[in-house]
Amino acid sequence: MPALANKTYFNYGGQGPLPGPSLVAISAAFATIQELGPFSDNVWPYVNRTVSALRQRLAAWFGVDTARVAFTENVTSGCVLPLWGLPWQAGDELLVSDAEHYGVVAALEELARRHQLRITSLAVADLTGEAEATAAAVGQRLEAALTPHTRLVVLSHLLWNTGQTMPIAAVAAQLAGHPRHPWLLVDGAQSLGSLPLAEAAAAADIYACTGHKWCCGPEGLGAVALSERLLEASSPTLIGWRSLEHDGAGAGGYHRDARRFEVATSCTPLFAGLNQSLALLEAEGDAEARLAAIRQRSGQLWQGLRRIPGVRTLLAVPPPAGLVSFTMAAGSGEPLDPAVIVKQLGNRGTWLRTLESPRCVRACTHLVSTADEVERLLAQLVEG
Ligand SMILES: Cc1ncc(COP(=O)(O)O)c(C=O)c1O
Repeated sequence: MPALANKTYFNYGGQGPLPGPSLVAISAAFATIQELGPFSDNVWPYVNRTVSALRQRLAAWFGVDTARVAFTENVTSGCVLPLWGLPWQAGDELLVSDAEHYGVVAALEELARRHQLRITSLAVADLTGEAEATAAAVGQRLEAALTPHTRLVVLSHLLWNTGQTMPIAAVAAQLAGHPRHPWLLVDGAQSLGSLPLAEAAAAADIYACTGHKWCCGPEGLGAVALSERLLEASSPTLIGWRSLEHDGAGAGGYHRDARRFEVATSCTPLFAGLNQSLALLEAEGDAEARLAAIRQRSGQLWQGLRRIPGVRTLLAVPPPAGLVSFTMAAGSGEPLDPAVIVKQLGNRGTWLRTLESPRCVRACTHLVSTADEVERLLAQLVEG
């Protein structure tokens, strides 16, 4: 990974570095398209093969049929485009967790404003303990928060702020027992490439992901897995030639499958790059083995942080994945500004990020993180 040659990197949840072979695959795809086309009968079979190969690979990761996978540009559009196509009625309630990304929340607020929907809140950000207790609490709180008007539940699989995992398949089962069977929208920004997700992705109605974070693919390409019932009930929203079943004037009908949410021309070389990045991840072991490796480093970091006076980790237990969020206080007990900590570390070539809610510092460990890098970060935090 060329990006890792000159820095100590802990921002995998923001953007993963692109491996050298993925960069080569992207350049090679650009070259092939120029050689065969760029717009010629000779190029389309290559473009179709490249897109289909990635759709098949992602469908296997999601544990769903290829017909349920649509390509998007990023996580947010995967969350938002299908939502606008659903048949909302004034008074419907959207139950949104208090740990969702502000971009998705903003889109939900606008959806609610235009259709006279009501947004209610599901508290999960304070669930910082063991997985079993967390899952039980989510189940109880969901039961208490659901009303006869609830039409949608929004919950991330891996919370981007605390680093806690949510029991998505259990939530989906619980919603199936509700008289209105609310839609389940899952923001998978932090899960694709870090967690085993087939069970969750297959159970959700909308499971939106991106290739540019934990998959270490290029920015600009994401995917969403959609349930069959959502595909039946929803209409396309941003419509273009790729939403249509047939080419040409008067072509009419939309794809019945998830492609109804695809729009128009996108950058084929990115598909080649993401496919290569996913193949590299697969070569490191299955999803469980990869998560175990990620957790080894996040656990090392979490333990080390807890030994530093004044540091408070958001999670009370070793992280279930690779996100480790924390705050720091000076010897006097005065809180240290996360932005200052991040800037000082950046000056030394170590890259973390701040989060606003709750205000803290977040470090991510991935498969490529080394024990030495974690120790270097811990030493730098102690030195101040
Ligand atoms: C949980 C979550 N949702 C959404 C986003 C936005 O991602 P994108 O720019 O791919 O839409 C992020 C990015 O940090 C995120 O962490």
